[in-house]
Amino acid sequence: MRRTLIHDLDDLQHEHGYLRREDLEGLARRSRRPLYEIQGLVSFYPHFRTEPPKPYEVTLCRDMSCWLQDGTAQAESVEATLSGREDVGIRRVSCIGRCDCAPAASVNERACRMQDVVDLVEGREVPPLPAPDQPSRRIPTTLPQIATRCSARRWPARSRRRR
Ligand code: FES
Repeated sequence: MRRTLIHDLDDLQHEHGYLRREDLEGLARRSRRPLYEIQGLVSFYPHFRTEPPKPYEVTLCRDMSCWLQDGTAQAESVEATLSGREDVGIRRVSCIGRCDCAPAASVNERACRMQDVVDLVEGREVPPLPAPDQPSRRIPTTLPQIATRCSARRWPARSRRRR
């Protein structure tokens, strides 16, 4: 199998628990790729960290499927509940690949429903997620369903768009 920058970044993160700036610069020199390209990869993939991890690393998905399932409000609720805890790091990230359980999150890289994050951090049992290939009835799958969901939400004001 051909090694890619992703493999190198995985190895570096495994070595130190996160990606240090000097490691990224070293990788850029060795691979003869610009540093901004490597930083772009790091910021695109939600499992990469650029700061030392805390005992509980929580990621909250902010992408479309989760947003349609009220993910923004649930994420704010999780952040409010866990705010002030030194042992919990919370990040909002792009899709974590569990759109079927939207709104989705993860605790220490274990995928879960966003509503279960606080229970997991506090050590309580939560119901397991269905296998990824099981169909879910909660996600709109047809264009009319999606349009109905979207029209119920507020879109960014027109004044913010460039003319
Ligand atoms: S959009 Fe949230 S898990 Fe895919």
